[in-house]
Parts: sequence; C-alpha cells; structure tokens
Amino acid sequence: MNWLVPLSDIQFGPEEKGAVQAVLESGWLTMGEVTHQFEQEFMAYTGAKHAFAVSNATVALHMACAALDLKPGDEVIVPSLTFVATANAVRYTGATPVFADITSESDLTISLDSIKKAFTPRSRAIIVMHYAGYACDMPAILAWAKENNLPVIEDAAHAVGSYLDNRHLGTWGMAGCFSFFSNKNLSTGEGGMIVTEDDALAEKFSLLRSHGMTSLTWDRHEGHAWSYDVAALGYNYRIDEIHSAIGREQLRKLNANNTRRREITALYREMLAQHCPDLGVPFAHHPGVSAHHIMPVILPNSANRLQFMETMKTHGIQTSIHYPPIHTFTDFRSQPVGPASLEVTEDIARREVTLPLYPLMTDAQVELVVNAVADALVKAR
Ligand SMILES: Cc1ncc(COP(=O)(O)O)c(C=O)c1O
Repeated sequence: MNWLVPLSDIQFGPEEKGAVQAVLESGWLTMGEVTHQFEQEFMAYTGAKHAFAVSNATVALHMACAALDLKPGDEVIVPSLTFVATANAVRYTGATPVFADITSESDLTISLDSIKKAFTPRSRAIIVMHYAGYACDMPAILAWAKENNLPVIEDAAHAVGSYLDNRHLGTWGMAGCFSFFSNKNLSTGEGGMIVTEDDALAEKFSLLRSHGMTSLTWDRHEGHAWSYDVAALGYNYRIDEIHSAIGREQLRKLNANNTRRREITALYREMLAQHCPDLGVPFAHHPGVSAHHIMPVILPNSANRLQFMETMKTHGIQTSIHYPPIHTFTDFRSQPVGPASLEVTEDIARREVTLPLYPLMTDAQVELVVNAVADALVKAR
C-alpha cells in the first residue's frame, strides 16, 4: 500500500552502501574484523564491558536463557505485553514463561508488584522489556531480584540509545539483548547484539554463538589458531560482515536519529494534548532518556479500535498494535498464565494503537497524523 505516512521507514544512504561494497570487495563475508569493530564501537557507545553481535535479538535472548541452564520445570517471569520472542526464548530451553502484568496505563513496562505475585519456588529469572525504549523500574526490580536470587535479562530490542540514570539500558541486568531488525532505531535488516558486564557469562556467550567452538574460522584465517575444540553445546547464531558493516554506519547516525525521534515525540505529545485530550499518551513522566522507538497511544474506553484504525487508513496513515498479549495466542493458551492478574495488560492491549514514528518524518506529517487521529476518534465513538 502507498501510505501517506507509513508506520516506520528506514534511512540508508551512501555510507551504508559504501560499507557493504567494501565488505564485498574485501572477499571476507563471515564474522571477522568488521564484526569485531562493530562490537567494540557498540561497547563504547553503551558502556557495556562485553558485546557479541548475533543474527537477531531472538537468539540473543535465547543465549541469555541458555547460559542460565534453564530446564523443563523452571519458570521465567516475563511481560505478556511484548513481542513473542521474549517468551519464546524461554520456551526454547524447555522452561516455562510465567506472565506478569504491566504497571499502568501510563507506564507499559512490567510491574514489580506483579513480578512478586508471579514468583514461585520454581522461578529462575526475570526478563524485562523496555517498551518503546522507556526504562522499566530497574533499580527497584534489580533490588528485589537480588534479594530473591533471580538474574534479570533485559530485552532491549527497543532501547538502543535509551538511558536511565545516565546508564545505557541493557547494561543494568545480567545481559541486554538488542535488535537490529528493519524497523528498529539501528537497523541492519536482521541482526542483534548481546551485552554483559560479567566475564564468565561473556565466555559462555562466545561459545553459545558459534557451536561451542574455541576458535573461529576468522582466527584460523588470521593464523591465530590451527584447530578448535568444542567446549559446550552451542548454535550458529553468528552475524556476518555485511550486516555488521551496515550496523557500524547506523550506529554513527543513531544519536542524530534518536534526537529527531525525541523531537517528533514531543511534538506529538503537545499536539495530541491540544487536539485529542481524550487520548492517553503513556510515559509522560518517564525519568530516563528514551530511544523513542515507537509512539503508542491509548484510545478512550468507548472507542472502537478497528474503526479507528480503518479511518486512519482512509487518511493514508499506517498504524499498528504493540502488542497482542502473548498469553492470548493459540500456542500459549495451554500454558499456565501464572498467578498474577493480567488485568492492565488486557485492558491496554485492547486500546493501544501505535502511530507513525521515524527520523525522516516531518513536522507537517505529524500534524497530518494528529488531524487524522482527531477525525478517527470522532468516527470510532
Ligand atoms: C520487544 C522485542 N523483543 C524481541 C524482538 C526480536 O528481535 P529480532 O527480530 O531481532 O529477533 C523484537 C523484534 O521485533 C522486539 O520488538
């Protein structure tokens, strides 16, 4: 469809093209020096002690779960209002995701009260997700998790360039998992990164990423190693040089792009408050610096969401939903939801709509969207 304002848009220029061409001309495509440089630059950017570039954030989340040696019978507390990957990563290990509620209509991140209710003697970890790039309450969650001996994995798929107390999200917990999927703030098509502060865990991630092998093809090519041992069960979760080359260029543009996202979000907030006062706009009083990955709004109780989205479509404006809650999916219905009530998740999931947000969006396009929202709200009554 030819949208007047699409939900998101990628922004690749001559820099990315040149970087890809340089890789092709180098004759070395699989994980090597360019990936190493990407990891170094990502560590410098986030302040993380270790970073491993991987095929996507889903495998990063799986690596974090696998490093904990989760097994059937173990439980991991996760939000339901997230992408299915957050819970699937747990299921790949045989363990069970147990769902916790979100905090409120104005804070769509996992609720510590609900985490406490979902906690059982079988709980082995918590995965939090920084919705839209807004931080979960990491100080409180980490303090409680520590008392209860639970590692905290951060699904930071939305949060590249997000900070809380001047500390980059993804570096607070045991491991942080970033996504470089097409629609993300830093995009390589497919790609991801796992970061950790823990040296022993870094060693595990290095093995898990590449079949548990103690040396890489690149090391052997460089003459650093002749052979390899297989020290653990691992996977092929590697990234390649083409994706890493794009990632390096995208990282250079990230701050400027996130600044523009912030400006657009501020303009949205101002205009929506003025023209659509019935609309809920979450995270108004967020304490940290968000990457502003998406622009969620909450429709009034009485509005018909389908009708709202249909009207937006007639205005040429693409909208989306973040997210259909995981516990309602067919493949999860047989799974115990956990003792926590998911009342807020269910309410918000019914009323949430995501508006367009991407760095190339103009102020005039924001105005177009807001005018369309005002009309769609009237028609959805
Ligand atoms: C919250 C969240 N977690 C995990 C993922 C999975 O990322 P990837 O597509 O890189 O595997 C995504 C991607 O959309 C996401 O939005």
